[in-house]
Amino acid sequence: MFPDPSSRSAELFARAAAVMPGANTRHMVTFGPYVVYGDHGEGCRLTDVDGNVYLDWINNFSTQIHGYGFEPVLEAVRAQIEKMICCILPSEPEVELAELICSRMPGVEQVRFANSGTEAVMVAIKGARGLTGRSKIAKAEGGYHGQFDLVEASFLPTPDNWGPDDRPAAPPFGRGTPKSLLDQVVVIPFNNVEATIARLEENASELACVIIDPIPARLGFTPATLDYLMAIRDFCTRNGSLLIFDEVFCNRAGYHGAQGRLGVTPDMTVMGKIIGGGFPIGAIGGLRSAMSVFDNLAGPLRVSHSGTFTANPISMAAGVAAMKHLTPQAFDQLERQGDRFRAGLTQKMNAAGLEMRANGVASMTSLQFFREPALNYREFHRRSGDNYLQRMRALHRAMLNEGVLMATRGVMIGSTAMSDADIDETIERAGRALAAFAALPNAA
Ligand SMILES: Cc1ncc(COP(=O)(O)O)c(C=O)c1O
Repeated sequence: MFPDPSSRSAELFARAAAVMPGANTRHMVTFGPYVVYGDHGEGCRLTDVDGNVYLDWINNFSTQIHGYGFEPVLEAVRAQIEKMICCILPSEPEVELAELICSRMPGVEQVRFANSGTEAVMVAIKGARGLTGRSKIAKAEGGYHGQFDLVEASFLPTPDNWGPDDRPAAPPFGRGTPKSLLDQVVVIPFNNVEATIARLEENASELACVIIDPIPARLGFTPATLDYLMAIRDFCTRNGSLLIFDEVFCNRAGYHGAQGRLGVTPDMTVMGKIIGGGFPIGAIGGLRSAMSVFDNLAGPLRVSHSGTFTANPISMAAGVAAMKHLTPQAFDQLERQGDRFRAGLTQKMNAAGLEMRANGVASMTSLQFFREPALNYREFHRRSGDNYLQRMRALHRAMLNEGVLMATRGVMIGSTAMSDADIDETIERAGRALAAFAALPNAA
């Protein structure tokens, strides 16, 4: 049972606390009173250092789309390691992965690689600024685009700092964020066409780009509406600002990415996670016209993009192997199983008498403490209630004790390693966890 003070995980956590602030290097995946330490994985199951086995419904926040020990990725990585880990020259797998991505994504005619989603977002914004000569960016309220202060403006805002509904403020996430930086961020209300276009028009002459995650995890995977995306697309075209889709997470919404699924083509697309086959990666793709800003063969260099480990051959080779197995049939399976999962969870939520919702798209699911879908950050925040984090922590623990690993904010991510039997087993286990959770004081 978690927590167990005599466990190996508790011991490792105590050792880590002595040498690492907060005993971690990854705030988003920590929980209390200590964190379970992973040891090995097979298929969709992960075993911790105490031998507890979990059905893994995080898959490292999406990167392990084929689960653990996926032989084609292991083979490709073994072969690449034997040949060359890294060198100063580009490698063939880089070209192969670029070709694969460009052949699938409607808005990606050319692509460049980075080491993480955060880095790719930074480079895309730099590119948009270089192309337009403008400095401001617009982002949706509550949107997550990685770990740097510019895009962290209005990440997890609260009623005391979020400003009017139709003119959201840009509160800093970290103390000491320069005001001059926050002045460069125009925050738009997700899925509110009128207020968003008014905000964009007000800042039109200074706007380099609008960056938006069209199926945001933080908003429980409720997609942006087609009207909303089309209105922003139209504004960007008229205004010469770049429309950037952040598909670091939601790229797994389909074979042609979220943009293929939703039917709107951005100028640039930021990717990461699944395209690296479980290894560190990020990518900036886009239409030729947008990507030309990085073209140092065409004339003087306008925007620089490099990095010691950029396009490292291991990530490239793993990415090629993983993506080749992400066929249209694989996406169909993920979609069908996602629907089966959410339907099963909904039944269990109802059986436990909980006012909850299993929301999501394809293999991305979010457990929510309300029944009607929330269309924007404020609805999600208000409906989740004041004790949201406390309740989510309790549910997370109940799941852990039933052998189901989910993210601390109720995000659950599937993989191709799961069979229908694994889905059904998870639903049964989750059902017991939900019932245990429902029996706790303050659960409802
Ligand atoms: C939408 C989105 N953008 C950017 C990032 C940052 O990617 P990374 O963690 O690889 O830096 C993430 C990571 O979860 C993400 O979900």
